[in-house]
Amino acid sequence: MVTKDYYSLNEVSQILGKSKETLRRWDRDGKFTAVREPISQYRIYKKEQINDLLKQLSIDYEDTVDNSVKPIKEFKVLELFAGAGGLAVGLEKSGIKCVALNEVDKWACQTLRENRPNWNVLEGDISSFNFTKYNNKVDIVTGGFPCQAFSYAGKKLGFKDARGTLFYEFARVVKEVNPLICIGENVKGLLSHEKGKTIEGMISILDEIGYNVVPVQVLKAINYRVPQKRERVILVGIRKDIDLKYKYPKPHNKIYNLVDALKKGELYDSNVPKSEGSKYPEHKKAVLDLVPQKGYWRNLPIDIQKEYMGKSFYLGGGKTGIARRIGWDEPSLTLTCSPAQKQTERCHPEETRPFTVREYARIQTFPDEWKFLGSVSQQYKQIGNAVPCNLGEEIGYSIIKFLNEYYSNLSKPK
Ligand SMILES: C[S@@+](CC[C@H](N)C(=O)[O-])C[C@H]1O[C@@H](n2cnc3c(N)ncnc32)[C@H](O)[C@@H]1O
Repeated sequence: MVTKDYYSLNEVSQILGKSKETLRRWDRDGKFTAVREPISQYRIYKKEQINDLLKQLSIDYEDTVDNSVKPIKEFKVLELFAGAGGLAVGLEKSGIKCVALNEVDKWACQTLRENRPNWNVLEGDISSFNFTKYNNKVDIVTGGFPCQAFSYAGKKLGFKDARGTLFYEFARVVKEVNPLICIGENVKGLLSHEKGKTIEGMISILDEIGYNVVPVQVLKAINYRVPQKRERVILVGIRKDIDLKYKYPKPHNKIYNLVDALKKGELYDSNVPKSEGSKYPEHKKAVLDLVPQKGYWRNLPIDIQKEYMGKSFYLGGGKTGIARRIGWDEPSLTLTCSPAQKQTERCHPEETRPFTVREYARIQTFPDEWKFLGSVSQQYKQIGNAVPCNLGEEIGYSIIKFLNEYYSNLSKPK
């Protein structure tokens, strides 16, 4: 990390290990722009710019952050809304044991059973299961409940008012199971849903059933060894009889890019395996052929921009995710449940096609051995829905730290 406010061309060249000519070219191309010193007109660079570029180039700098920790005993989790197991795989990697998983989608359940025949997969609608047999038998309940609007009967939303929503089911299971800690996971949009009322309601419901909610944070997957700009809200509830502070996992300072997902390197010890994948329709392919790496619809000739964007062309806003071709040296944009979806194209850097199933899985940091069942579109959906495994692993370490402290305090003489 650099600390002075301004640096000369010469200094920046040494810091970044790039020639002065390269830096001048980057300045001319707008890739890394300098400001001019008012009197001499020499190029100078601001501290923040250099630090950002260092991060992007992943020259840093060694990654000095290590959240990993060993559990002092076997910690058990009940995972709700388990999907194809992104969070479950991550928690398992951190050292937490999955005692049961609930999921309604039959293909996602088949995926879970295929990869972990010993996992107890409870297939079906969550509302049809009673979880009291796990009462006081698991330490953690987790779940990425799909977000739905509540109807507000009174001033403050109570547990019963939320009936019929999947958050209610999440809270009901927490109440039945009585874990030490519960973790809900959701999209960042949850924070602004119904102008913040939804998240407030969730916090008050968890309070009512006996859990204090840790100040809510958005975790950026890129800070947790995931080559993707995905952001997730984490709602952590701590049972009220526990007087211990939960700490979110520390963000890493190394950022991984698409190249790290698809090629042999620090994240994977081989190039991405070949696999099935969907294709763009001919018209879309012809348009995306014209987009350079890291480019998007604005890089198209103006008449094609207008035609491709239709009404959205006139609506303003960056819309930088439309007709986007990801570059090797940047993290992918958030993957969606369908890779050829209109207005969220994430094209391969060199070939004009969506990412294949295995490329998708790597960008979500699933292990190559993890198989997905169902049609290709079912597989994309399962992967696109998942919590990236490496993010799940880091969340797992933060839980283990918390539980280690809890259990070691219990065994201390009073
Ligand atoms: C965001 S995904 C969860 C992803 C998962 N945590 C992972 O990391 O792979 C939400 C999941 O909830 C499941 N789901 C939706 N309604 C459900 C219900 N009523 N009962 C059980 N599961 C349900 C969906 O099928 C979907 O797989």
